[in-house]
Amino acid sequence: MISVRTLCKRHGDRSVLENVSAEVRKGETIAIVGPSGGGKSTLLRCLNYLESFDSGSVKIAGFELRPGMAGGDAKTLRQMRSRVGMVFQQFNLFPHLSAIDNITLAPRIVKRVETAKAEALALELLTKVGLRDRASSFPHELSGGQQQRVAIARALAQEPDVLLFDEPTSALDPEMRDDVMEVIRDLAKGGMTMLVVTHEMQFAHDIASRVWVIDKGTIAEDGPPSQVVDDPQTPIAREFFARLRSAKRD
Ligand SMILES: Nc1ncnc2c1ncn2[C@@H]1O[C@H](COP(=O)(O)OP(=O)(O)O)[C@@H](O)[C@H]1O
Ligand SMILES: [Mg+2]
Repeated sequence: MISVRTLCKRHGDRSVLENVSAEVRKGETIAIVGPSGGGKSTLLRCLNYLESFDSGSVKIAGFELRPGMAGGDAKTLRQMRSRVGMVFQQFNLFPHLSAIDNITLAPRIVKRVETAKAEALALELLTKVGLRDRASSFPHELSGGQQQRVAIARALAQEPDVLLFDEPTSALDPEMRDDVMEVIRDLAKGGMTMLVVTHEMQFAHDIASRVWVIDKGTIAEDGPPSQVVDDPQTPIAREFFARLRSAKRD
């Protein structure tokens, strides 16, 4: 489903991703963890070409991404992004649109689905994320956790092959996080292919088929949670989890 080959990305003279190679199979859930500034967001953004990269390649959902794709590739990139959904820390809902209109917008405009059909799907998705009764609410009338669940429903409305989550619960009060994590957990159980950047280690441990520790622009460790979280093999991963545990005790 995803194949990353020797991906390199620089910002000025700073190397942000260094020769990252990785494979993700259909139905896997990858939890991405690691210290701030390590390159987690940059990697996700390269995977759906919100950012370009300097060398290497990405195959994702049947599309091949290369350095320097531009205007001429706009149609390809648009098609790719409808197969590769992204959910951001800050939700990024359209503030002037109700929940249901946020969800139906892309299907109606991009896929030309008729309104009644798009709305029926949106209501199904709102039910799935526990917000069937908030269809006509605007983002400012919803809590952060509810907005994030609308954002997930909006991503699902495109019927993506892959979903990318960049710290989906980090902007939320602790009591709102569980509902959002529950939705992501259900998606994992349902076989959706997902990459989830998270600081919630228990959550990563529970949902992930594999965990990647990203530090200094490389995947320092890649394996099942029972290895990476419980018994990390590399010094970088060991240090990251040790620091996390001591921060929790403080
Ligand atoms: N637009 C940018 N310009 C310059 N440096 C950037 C830019 N975006 C990210 N970086 C740098 O790239 C590195 C990785 O950032 P990021 O991918 O956001 O890390 P993470 O998500 O793991 O915290 C950091 O050192 C950050 O300062
Ligand atoms: Mg980040």
